[in-house]
Amino acid sequence: MNKRDIYYSMGPATRRLFRRIYYFPIDIIEKISGKRHPMAPPKGRVFIGSGDFIKQGQGILKQLKDYGGLKPNHRVLDIGCGIGRLAVPLVGYLDEKKGSYEGFDIVKSGIDWCKKKIQTKHPNFNFTHIDLRNELYNLKTDKNANNFVFPYKDDEFDFAFLTSVFTHMMPEDVSAYLEQISRVLKKGGVCFATFFVINEESGELMKINDVIKFDHKFENYYLHNPKVKEANVAFDESYLDELIIKHGLKIKNKHFGYWPGRPKDECVDFQDIYILER
Ligand SMILES: C[S@@+](CC[C@H](N)C(=O)[O-])C[C@H]1O[C@@H](n2cnc3c(N)ncnc32)[C@H](O)[C@@H]1O
Repeated sequence: MNKRDIYYSMGPATRRLFRRIYYFPIDIIEKISGKRHPMAPPKGRVFIGSGDFIKQGQGILKQLKDYGGLKPNHRVLDIGCGIGRLAVPLVGYLDEKKGSYEGFDIVKSGIDWCKKKIQTKHPNFNFTHIDLRNELYNLKTDKNANNFVFPYKDDEFDFAFLTSVFTHMMPEDVSAYLEQISRVLKKGGVCFATFFVINEESGELMKINDVIKFDHKFENYYLHNPKVKEANVAFDESYLDELIIKHGLKIKNKHFGYWPGRPKDECVDFQDIYILER
């Protein structure tokens, strides 16, 4: 078992406790020295991956603008908003009066942090906790994502995004979410979503490079680790494209990522980016 799989096998609550303990000394030092960015959570509370929280958020915001066409006056939906990695830079980008933000996630600690640090100070930002099951993030409930109706009106949003969320969801859940995205987006509205997409090229590259593997093939999708299904999920390109179109969305652009070993300087991001339009 490699480090990644040991980490996944811990279960969400143990994993989060492990992070709190592991980062405790750094978090204390950063707090005392005032070194932590005022809008960054302590490292031990960040459950969405590693790296520089603030820099990553700014980098992804740039992608939303450059490749998705996000504008300051948009009404924005952040699906699987985690602990506010994108909400933080969006506070400085969205127009206080004309722009607004909704974010939801299945991990309560992330939503609690966002409510306390962002929502209380910025009335155009709103966060919602939704208790749904995910093998990697939330085992406390049996409620499935595949029949979850987003708590928003039809045609409400100009822009929706999911960064590293569909990479942790099973096909039936992705299908249900695409249907909901199609419902809540305005006509002409854009969805920026990241995936792991398997096609001939990525399939071949994955075999020869020392990269994340999706060795467990199912009908239209692939798992990295079948014991923790949602740890990482990849989709067949043709299946994914059909699913998107079936739910009334157009594929405007695809930017394949460097995850299978494509040259980094030729890619926008690690994951594959899809730009969809309602
Ligand atoms: C790798 S994190 C990315 C978080 C955030 N999008 C970001 O870029 O910082 C994946 C997130 O997806 C959330 N998630 C998983 N399944 C979900 C679902 N069915 N609905 C909403 N969020 C979900 C997890 O709780 C977690 O916060």
